[in-house]
Amino acid sequence: MSTASMIAAAERDAQAGLRFEPLTKHIGCEVLGINLGRPVSPQDAAAIYRAWLDHAVLLFRDQDLTQEDLIRVTGIFGEFAPLGRPKHTLPSGFSKILPNIMLISNIRENGETIGALPDGEMMFHHDTIHRDEPHKATLLYSVEIPTYGGDTLFASGTAAYDMLDATMKKKLAGLRAVNFYVYNSVKRNDKQAVDASSQAVHPVVRTHEETGCKALYVNRLMSVRIEGMAAAESDALLNFLFDHSERPEFVYTHIWRKGDLIVWDNRCSSHARTDFPSDQRRLLLRTTVKGTCRPY
Ligand SMILES: [Fe+2]
Repeated sequence: MSTASMIAAAERDAQAGLRFEPLTKHIGCEVLGINLGRPVSPQDAAAIYRAWLDHAVLLFRDQDLTQEDLIRVTGIFGEFAPLGRPKHTLPSGFSKILPNIMLISNIRENGETIGALPDGEMMFHHDTIHRDEPHKATLLYSVEIPTYGGDTLFASGTAAYDMLDATMKKKLAGLRAVNFYVYNSVKRNDKQAVDASSQAVHPVVRTHEETGCKALYVNRLMSVRIEGMAAAESDALLNFLFDHSERPEFVYTHIWRKGDLIVWDNRCSSHARTDFPSDQRRLLLRTTVKGTCRPY
């Protein structure tokens, strides 16, 4: 057997044990028995994609990925979304940051943050819901993690919708919500920190274009009002939906370890971040996958 075939056989053996273990009843699944630092076979890629549609969030532990690996793995889930990333200062240990990778970090070099979304808590949100074609997926790979905090919570919009009663489902049918860009603040405070120039209207209940399942598609950070509804009624309805969709039974809380890769489906899940010590370093690499259609 040639060296190339021996390597290929070893790779097949190493990846033969692909397994999926759900993390909670409604959302999240750990993928075991795969080293994403090696090429992923089309069969494994298809199984991973199917599990992702079924569980909305996939976790791969103990991965040792280069930026090139992360780019390659992102390709399993679709095309890269254009990245409006801030100018990065290279963190120590990095000689480059590839164009499709964004740093999520609180690390500061010469007093400047090197990445985006640096500090503290973030309320539940869907990435880029303020755009007409929000991103389909986000991948996050952990490089440096604080000793505690900075957990990511993932909420299943599908389970939250399914558990609504028939009267509420009927009430929500056809409603649309206005979503603003609010990432420049981790907490929305009425009109403060809201960029009204960047907003999009989407259905309150989104039908997933691949699974056909319906999911709640509003979130506490970015959804500001129901279109065409009086303010008091809109606020009451949205607050009810925010509280409902964040109920613990719909949420998987991820406590990060170095080497974790998570990929989530932005079309049917929202996510939030807990606070963490500002004097400890946190660095994750993020890629995003382009949405394939408008949500309506
Ligand atoms: Fe996010």
